[in-house]
Amino acid sequence: MLTNMQNGKANRSDATTGNRMLDASKRDLAWLHRAHGEQLALCRELEDIADSLPASINRQKCIYAAKALGPLIKGIHHYEETVLFPMLQRDPDAAVHLESTLERLKFEHCEDECFAEELTDALLKLGSGERVNMEAVGYMLRGFFEGMRRHIAFEQEHLLQGITDDSRQFGPT
Ligand SMILES: [Fe+2]
Repeated sequence: MLTNMQNGKANRSDATTGNRMLDASKRDLAWLHRAHGEQLALCRELEDIADSLPASINRQKCIYAAKALGPLIKGIHHYEETVLFPMLQRDPDAAVHLESTLERLKFEHCEDECFAEELTDALLKLGSGERVNMEAVGYMLRGFFEGMRRHIAFEQEHLLQGITDDSRQFGPT
């Protein structure tokens, strides 16, 4: 696992960044695929939480998801914006609309990070048993994981198809 969420348990030793592989600068395409897998697993956790509202909330699951959310998506966004996107831009055969596509993806990253902060706060409240507007939190959860699934699907289908570490000069610039 790449985040501080492992088998549903938070790992306090990773609390600083939540991502040991980022710290070690051992990032490659395989790392990104694993990270996307973790992001999708987190989406499933968030969907379970949304489905559990309002009467069957697993508070511990809410706390774990809250702690994993920010570090996971920030780590992936950092990698994509500092390694993947510059690598794609160096490709002389890049599509003409690549620049606008990458700008849109960066904008979505920014939106998701803001959204994740609000969601983290809501999940912590759910986890601690504080009173929240269940309908609003359910709406927020669904909006977040549905948007994230679309974002990842787009990147996998349109940016990562056919790319391997060996086929491009993959690595930090
Ligand atoms: Fe992305």
